[in-house]
Amino acid sequence: MKIIKKIAWVLLLVLIVMQFYRPEKNLEHGNHTAIFLKETNPPEEVKLILKNTCYDCHSNNTKYPWYNNIAPVSYWLADHVKHGKGELNFSDWENYSNKKKDHKLEEVVEVIEENAMPLKEYTWTHAEARLTDEQKQAIVDWVKKSRVLYQLNQQPQ
Ligand code: HEC
Repeated sequence: MKIIKKIAWVLLLVLIVMQFYRPEKNLEHGNHTAIFLKETNPPEEVKLILKNTCYDCHSNNTKYPWYNNIAPVSYWLADHVKHGKGELNFSDWENYSNKKKDHKLEEVVEVIEENAMPLKEYTWTHAEARLTDEQKQAIVDWVKKSRVLYQLNQQPQ
């Protein structure tokens, strides 16, 4: 029994100390997705869906929930944002080639149709991010139009 008590105290101490270390936040201000929006020209509805359900992990600005103040949750969220941005960052659109833009948009349709995005862990806590069939269709329609633009403008390799 004594040993279990000791372990519990150590764990508690670790948890307390952890609170003093915070991962860096993803908080660029200003119009960080302007170029992406200008080029792909999403309708208002799609713009809102992307903003409310994708930008938290796929742009340079995350809206953090209150529980991000608690370690180790903060580390877990920071990890999602890092990996999400690594795959696709709407704030970094200007640095993608046309080929890459086209491919990323193709992936967007794939993850939407497979219900792989937004991540399940995200929709547990963000009910508004559970996309309806109409919302998914709106994204698919918009992607189709935008991809034509990039396919016509593919730079020679
Ligand atoms: C909670 C964070 C989070 C949210 C919200 C989120 N994503 Fe992701 N996304 C990730 C992570 C992490 C990865 C990379 C790992 C993986 O594929 O699971 C990823 C990967 C992707 C990829 C690349 C998939 C591939 O085939 O490699 C696409 C495309 C994508 N997300 C689109 C979206 C779209 C569109 C939305 C909004 C409808 C969205 N994501 C919302 C975290 C998120």
